[in-house]
Amino acid sequence: MAARRGRHFLQIPGPTNVPDRVLRALSQPTIDHRGPAFAAIARGAFAGLQRVFQTTGPVVIYPSSGTGAWEAALVNTLSPGDRILMFETGHFATLWRQMAERLGLSVDFVPGDWRHGADPDALSAKLADDRGHAIKAVAVVHNETSTGVASRIDEIRRRLDGVGHPALLLVDTISSLGSIEYRHEAWRVDVSVGCSQKGLMLPPGLGLHAVSEKAIAASRSARLPRSYWDWAPMLADNEAGFFPYTPATNLLYGLREAIDLLLEEGLSNVFARHRRHAEATRRAVRAWGLELVCCNPEEYSSSLTAVMMPIGHDADALRATILERFDMSIGTGLGKLKGKVFRIGHLGDFNDLMLAGTLSGVEMGLAASGVPFTPGGITAALEYLAS
Ligand SMILES: Cc1ncc(COP(=O)(O)O)c(C=O)c1O
Repeated sequence: MAARRGRHFLQIPGPTNVPDRVLRALSQPTIDHRGPAFAAIARGAFAGLQRVFQTTGPVVIYPSSGTGAWEAALVNTLSPGDRILMFETGHFATLWRQMAERLGLSVDFVPGDWRHGADPDALSAKLADDRGHAIKAVAVVHNETSTGVASRIDEIRRRLDGVGHPALLLVDTISSLGSIEYRHEAWRVDVSVGCSQKGLMLPPGLGLHAVSEKAIAASRSARLPRSYWDWAPMLADNEAGFFPYTPATNLLYGLREAIDLLLEEGLSNVFARHRRHAEATRRAVRAWGLELVCCNPEEYSSSLTAVMMPIGHDADALRATILERFDMSIGTGLGKLKGKVFRIGHLGDFNDLMLAGTLSGVEMGLAASGVPFTPGGITAALEYLAS
């Protein structure tokens, strides 16, 4: 491969680009995780995360990927055979369902076409049928990273409230936290599941929860086996700024710095920036004459855009060309969308000129790969960004 100059463009929808300030924070010396200096760092990270999740309740930080935090949400709150309602919004919802089944839960999986979010009407119908309250939890992926579709969690909450259903609400915020408006407390979510490598602009390695009092109460009687993921020792030790096992010390330095960055910008500005970049990207896609995966404008994702390839053209061949020619990584199609879809990540530490570069790489890649498209997507995006 020819020598590379300049920065690689990491435009997958996570892991995302890590800002220089965070990289510098990560490179500080590792310290004693049972000493007083560490406790101050951990407390700062918990307080900052509460602001990002928009909660005053407990947050939990695991040394794990997002998948670990998924498992932790289930095993802390549910018992073998419990009924859980999940929605087939895409690849990640399908993986979470598989996990729930492997853990011995009884999953009611509402079918979906991978182009729409969790259907509030389908939820209402399921809840209306469940007068005996057999459904113990409703689990939704807020931002389905495989499709670029964001489910309406506030509406899901309203539907649960509408019939007074007591099911726990578990939400995967993995690719929305820090990029798309998310309100753990106001939406009365019971467990919000996040991780470090998306909107929080950190490397992979932290799994996150925001937890409600109701979820903690459920954990006292939940009987799925748990040890590493158990909230009880975690929350007890966290009170003093410590962990029941060795935490990811350096990632916590980075987390504190990343939260400072988000709060300095202001969360509402962060969300507006993501919305604007997403809109510019969609304008480019439409001008190219390509189709968005997301069908419903109310469910457009601000953190990524998934694009259908014209029939007969392979998305992974396009991605390989873009990587080889322009040193940019864009997201692959996942699960049943493999080869059919590519995904443009526009979340995290990202600005107008990075988006211009990203869209230029895609447009040049489309041309170099012989994919039929109408040139001018970049111009459509730039006009929007300049307006
Ligand atoms: C929405 C969503 N949920 C869960 C996961 C799994 O997270 P991880 O790969 O960190 O285990 C991902 C990963 O991209 C995701 O996008």
